[in-house]
Amino acid sequence: MSSGRPVRHFLRDDDLSAAEQARVLALAAELATNRLARRPLDGPRAVAVLFDKPSLRTRVSFSVGIAELGGYPLVIDAGGTHAGRGEAVEDVARVLSRQVAAIAWRTFAQDQLAAMAAASRVPVVNALTNEFHPCQVLADLLTIQQAYGRLAGLTLTFLGDGSSNMAHSYLLGGATAGLHVRICAPAAYWPSADVVATAAAIAGRTGGSVLVTADTAAGCTDADVLATDVWTSMGQEGQEGARSEVMVPYSLDAAKLAAASAYCRVLHCLPAHRGQEITAEVIDGPASLVFEQSENRLHAQKALLCFLLEQAAG
Ligand code: CP
Ligand code: NVA
Repeated sequence: MSSGRPVRHFLRDDDLSAAEQARVLALAAELATNRLARRPLDGPRAVAVLFDKPSLRTRVSFSVGIAELGGYPLVIDAGGTHAGRGEAVEDVARVLSRQVAAIAWRTFAQDQLAAMAAASRVPVVNALTNEFHPCQVLADLLTIQQAYGRLAGLTLTFLGDGSSNMAHSYLLGGATAGLHVRICAPAAYWPSADVVATAAAIAGRTGGSVLVTADTAAGCTDADVLATDVWTSMGQEGQEGARSEVMVPYSLDAAKLAAASAYCRVLHCLPAHRGQEITAEVIDGPASLVFEQSENRLHAQKALLCFLLEQAAG
């Protein structure tokens, strides 16, 4: 089975080059119209999907997607394993990678995911960490491409918690696609300087750009896509009051949408809190693509798995 080539993982958005990202998105678009077109997991071969945090969309889209690729989704919740009793992540990787074709993991620290990948013989996919949510941004790019017929040169503004996994993934994944990515957030919640610098370097090669601002007018004016996410992410429970206080001006509401381009589309990775990070009028209005976006998790992750499994097969 092994090709002798290094195993490819998808731990951060910039693990795919611009050409590879475009290839994955093209396959995702094909799978969106013909869901059973690819069967790389026929057998069935199993894919392990591990959750240390709650999930609806990621759980469903990986499970359905793995089955549609001909495989068997082995969904494992942390409460049912020895993770809480100190089993080393490297040992988990060694055990799983002798029996499954790939591993997807939703966890807390990115460095734990990296440790899993370093010990794994099979591709490891980030199903969300504190730092990044790259599968979501692949789905979001597919959604934007379906709406506009292109990606490069469009402006995407993320409003709200600029230090979140979604903001970081928009920076890296959006820059890779040649988007002009704007993060519009209160100064106390700006993205990591390292991620901004990496995104700016990528944008320099793809024709995109990166802007971080606290000014909502500068952030929203003429944007082609407005996106937001919860103000308090999983693992930050107890910080709701302090976060809401400074993030209210960044709520995705009708005024922000009016400042954007006439055709502006709206994204939210869900789950959403109407009346907080987004108004009901906007998320349930004509500019919203949030349910197309949630369906696209399925197509994007299937395409990603096809790509990673092809690389593994040589
Ligand atoms: N958007 C997203 O990842 O949703 P879940 O947390 O429900 O998987
Ligand atoms: N930023 C959110 C995304 C949820 C899909 C979180 O990490 O909770």
